[in-house]
Amino acid sequence: TGMFTYDPGFTSTASCASTITFIDGDEGILRYRGYPIDQLAEGGDFLETCFLLLYGELPSAKERESFERRVTRHTMVHEQMTRFFTGFRRDAHPMAVMVASVGAMAAFYPDSTDVADPNAREIASIRMIAKLPTLAAMAYKYSVGQPFVYPRNDLDYASNFLQMCFAVPCEEYKVNPVMARAMDRIFTLHADHEQNASTSTVRLAGSSGANPFACIAAGVACLWGPAHGGANEAALKMLEEIGTPDRIPEFVEKAKDKNDPFRLMGFGHRVYKNYDPRAKIMQQTAHEVLDELGIKDDPLLDVAVELEKVALQDEYFVERKLYPNIDFYSGITLRAMGFPTSMFTVLFSVARTVGWIAQWKEMLEDPAQRIGRPRQLYNGAVERSFVPAKDRG
Ligand code: CMC
Repeated sequence: TGMFTYDPGFTSTASCASTITFIDGDEGILRYRGYPIDQLAEGGDFLETCFLLLYGELPSAKERESFERRVTRHTMVHEQMTRFFTGFRRDAHPMAVMVASVGAMAAFYPDSTDVADPNAREIASIRMIAKLPTLAAMAYKYSVGQPFVYPRNDLDYASNFLQMCFAVPCEEYKVNPVMARAMDRIFTLHADHEQNASTSTVRLAGSSGANPFACIAAGVACLWGPAHGGANEAALKMLEEIGTPDRIPEFVEKAKDKNDPFRLMGFGHRVYKNYDPRAKIMQQTAHEVLDELGIKDDPLLDVAVELEKVALQDEYFVERKLYPNIDFYSGITLRAMGFPTSMFTVLFSVARTVGWIAQWKEMLEDPAQRIGRPRQLYNGAVERSFVPAKDRG
């Protein structure tokens, strides 16, 4: 046995070298391939961001068009997938349905298993970016007892997703451009975040040469947790539980109490110890959506604004550098757009898929790539002798 560095939570271990995403947590900087996140979210769009993350450069007009065509050509899922969906209980959590259905795609695209073939990797990547929104919308439609809506390839990525979620056969559905823009921004802001728990999970799963759909399903599973992607759902539930601004001090005290496991959901970040640059854009988007929908006095928004103020002034939060993260505002926005809280993490998984894939591809193409195999510090029993059952008393 050798000596190993003990680093629980991997706070000081670089698991890989990467050219995709840069974060400076102290300065509140996030860049994809060198481009600041605010510039991409404000001037670009999600599909462009996908291209950038996957191929390293922003697309030319021609590249953009051909990429968009390739993505839209793959938006349908195999019709047999509808049978798979209808096997679930209607009240199943849509994240449970996502873990299962994304994993099931490996069975529908057996050609994706040859990960050593760059063409197979490419087609699997496009398929996932194209089909995750379809699966997510199906998970939603199934949970509300409505018929599945097929993708429409004349619509942009975000608009198509909104129509698959909110269109019903009995009336015409028109996508509200403000909602489409907000959706697109949410996707862009969540597209990648370097070696977070779910991305590390995808890399570790992929390091064995596993099927890419199975690897992304592992990422979806990890994202589900409330300390990670599940935080937007947890943040909104918390705001609902607080209910009115006058109850905020009580919850803030609870969050500070070390004997109480309660934490302010949507606050704090492993890496951002100054502010979360995505939270700023998300806050602005939240206001755009609420204005467009004419939601003037949303009690939850009042609670959110007040909570932010209180926490930012509280010594406990200041000392520990706990600022509102992206999930704090994305929950309010998604709720206003009509999504139930159970769908929040699903939307996150749709957005993060491109990051997972870009990281998975980078890993497989890295000459230093080996199977991920952490070691441990064993601190269990020393050697002892087996006692047969009859002699154990
Ligand atoms: N409320 C109250 N106290 C907190 C909170 C919070 N939200 N977050 C951290 N702390 C305290 C924690 O108790 C500890 O205090 P002390 O030093 O006195 O023991 C100190 O701050 C440091 O916390 P930590 O748990 O060591 O920090 P971490 O880097 O391991 O955890 C985190 C980061 C995001 C898991 C954590 O801040 C948290 O649980 N936040 C709430 C959940 C949340 O909003 N998660 C979304 C993360 S962003 C989106 C994503 O990555 O998916």
